[in-house]
Amino acid sequence: MTGGLDPETIVFFENRPTALSEARVGILTHALNFGTGVFEGIRGYWNEPENQLFLIRAREHFLRWKQNCGILRIEVPLSIAELGALAADLVRRNGFRGDVYIKPLAYKSSQQIGIHTDDQSAFAIVPMPAPAYLDSSKGLQACVASWRRIEDNAIPGRAKICGSYVNGVLASDEARRNGFDEAILLTEAGHVAEGASCNIFLVRQGKLITPPASENILEGITRDSVMELARKELHREVTERPVDRSELYVCDEMFFTGTMVEVAPVIRVDHRPVGSGQIGPVTAELRHLYTHAVRGRLEAYRHWLMPVYEAVAKEVDERDEALARKE
Ligand SMILES: Cc1ncc(COP(=O)(O)O)c(C=O)c1O
Repeated sequence: MTGGLDPETIVFFENRPTALSEARVGILTHALNFGTGVFEGIRGYWNEPENQLFLIRAREHFLRWKQNCGILRIEVPLSIAELGALAADLVRRNGFRGDVYIKPLAYKSSQQIGIHTDDQSAFAIVPMPAPAYLDSSKGLQACVASWRRIEDNAIPGRAKICGSYVNGVLASDEARRNGFDEAILLTEAGHVAEGASCNIFLVRQGKLITPPASENILEGITRDSVMELARKELHREVTERPVDRSELYVCDEMFFTGTMVEVAPVIRVDHRPVGSGQIGPVTAELRHLYTHAVRGRLEAYRHWLMPVYEAVAKEVDERDEALARKE
């Protein structure tokens, strides 16, 4: 009933914290029938030495959410700062002390039969312990999907619109049934767009290449983080440009990025080895850097992190200061 989650999990629904088991919508809800919702996915990583949980790039996620809600004319009535505070409050209420995943969802909430929509909308935020996801530690096997990536002028792929995920569901279901871990979708023009639920990077002659926002991709926040790490920490060139399908077969390295997959190496594509068929050195370095950054171990990227347990951190500081005064 509650997707394997504790039904007592405290979520935000109908403008108040409530138990997950109580957070229900009616069968005629517009979003359920027509896919008119916009969601987000935010990770939080537990940092044991600091006794702290950090939400990763929460501001960017909430900004993207609010902007994309605008495409469907859904208004989220809280500021980005208020949404961040609300997400942190929910994590604290649940007392999560481990990695988490937070799912905000805004949706057309009127109960009606027809497709025409009014201005009635609602939003919810569901925090949960981080679910198990694709294990990419040994590298993934990918395939090009027979399904094409949705066009911006049909359903904008840059928004995490619920209905648009049918596209990724069809592609990833096909990939998995054919024995692959993940699908790669091409645009109608035949260019590489992205994975079913992640962005894609290739490495050729030491340079990183990724399709631009205009190729119907979701403008991934992990993609952005990885581009920054590649440029600033590895001093690598990163180019956003259209990518041909056949470049998948001749590149040296390939990896996916996303909140859930993090930095996931691809070692085979369409039954061909990617480069040496092993996880490549650039991918391995970026994966390492990304993990360190989100775990709060890289000072230069601490601004990506939003601490949840500020009171705890403050208490620890105050306790340490008091101890220092005694010494
Ligand atoms: C279709 C799609 N592309 C890309 C991504 C990666 O985006 P982000 O790094 O912001 O999670 C996701 C996951 O959110 C996705 O669903």
